[in-house]
Amino acid sequence: MIPVNSPLLDGDESRYLQECIATGWLSAEGGFVEQFEREFAARVGRAHGVAVSSGTAALDVAVAALGLGPGDEVIVPTFTIISCVAAILRAGATPIFVDSDARTWNMNVDQIEPLLNRRTRAIMPVHTYGLPVDMEPLLKLAGDHGLHVIEDAAEAHGLQYRGEPCGSFGDISTFSFYANKLVTTGEGGMVLTDDPAIAERCRSLRNLCFGSGRRFVHEELGWNYRMSNLQAAVGVAQLKQLDRFIRLKRAMGQRYSDRLGSLAAITLQPARTEHAENGYWVYGVVLEDHVPLDAAEAMRRLAERGIGTRPFFWPMHEQPVLKRLGFSDGNARPVSERLARRGFYLPSGLGLSQAEIDTVCDEVCALLADFGIRT
Ligand SMILES: Cc1ncc(COP(=O)(O)O)c(C=O)c1O
Repeated sequence: MIPVNSPLLDGDESRYLQECIATGWLSAEGGFVEQFEREFAARVGRAHGVAVSSGTAALDVAVAALGLGPGDEVIVPTFTIISCVAAILRAGATPIFVDSDARTWNMNVDQIEPLLNRRTRAIMPVHTYGLPVDMEPLLKLAGDHGLHVIEDAAEAHGLQYRGEPCGSFGDISTFSFYANKLVTTGEGGMVLTDDPAIAERCRSLRNLCFGSGRRFVHEELGWNYRMSNLQAAVGVAQLKQLDRFIRLKRAMGQRYSDRLGSLAAITLQPARTEHAENGYWVYGVVLEDHVPLDAAEAMRRLAERGIGTRPFFWPMHEQPVLKRLGFSDGNARPVSERLARRGFYLPSGLGLSQAEIDTVCDEVCALLADFGIRT
């Protein structure tokens, strides 16, 4: 089986982990946490980094740190992971879902303005699958209307939009270091900001809001979302490899596209837009409507052929839990609905060899040929 993801841990990861064990520093108090925060923030050009236990935790902390709450609306892509929406809902705010752009699969920035009203407080763009969102018009809208921007850059480590690092935009940005991310700590995340007061608030929220007064006396509620020294040790080692990882992902994207780019049966995310180059965090494909298979069936058949895949996101406005809670307005978002039903991604791990990519392409072509589709 060619796995859908496999990390590369061939740098200083073991050595730094050994150091944690040798010194006995395992918890969040260890020195690697602060080092990882400093080095990751510097890489993205932000003043402050607050390491947390996951990308989901980072979103919770970001939304809470900005003081979003009941009565506030947050504009968010419908085609994303539920972590974005869960953070908004847990704060008591209301998510407003925007459909995807058919070409980039990112939030359709042109659809934001009509949704703004006096309750709108923030926009949460998500760089989907390694292709940066068109941030400039979004930031202009946010500036004109006094809105916060929470940039979810979980899938955009080391990428750039108009020459500026993804994760450097808006009031606050969030990252995930889950095992399939470019920089991984196994589980982990980070909040970045340039605002010292927001950073301080994030630090407090991730650590149960222990105040500066007597320990165990709390003025507010927070979470234990701390990152351990073990995780951060891996993160410091991984971050040193980020440029290499980006090159590997782009080479993977190029090799897949050389084989699959000309197939009329599938559409791909663009290799570049006017403002950004795709980092191919994952390599997604969308089956054209004339292909007599949906994504679920294609994935099942590829698994039989030894190819690991993952489905695309399922739109937030179609989520059973959000419908039950009354946060789905019943309106269609046709682009995301189609992406969810026709799209999936192919093996995309950093450990993937060129021969494996070729095997994946052979199997995709053979599957299509089974249905009489010329490749
Ligand atoms: C865009 C995006 N945001 C948030 C998350 C949540 O991160 P985590 O899995 O670390 O909680 C992910 C995870 O895959 C993601 O892709």
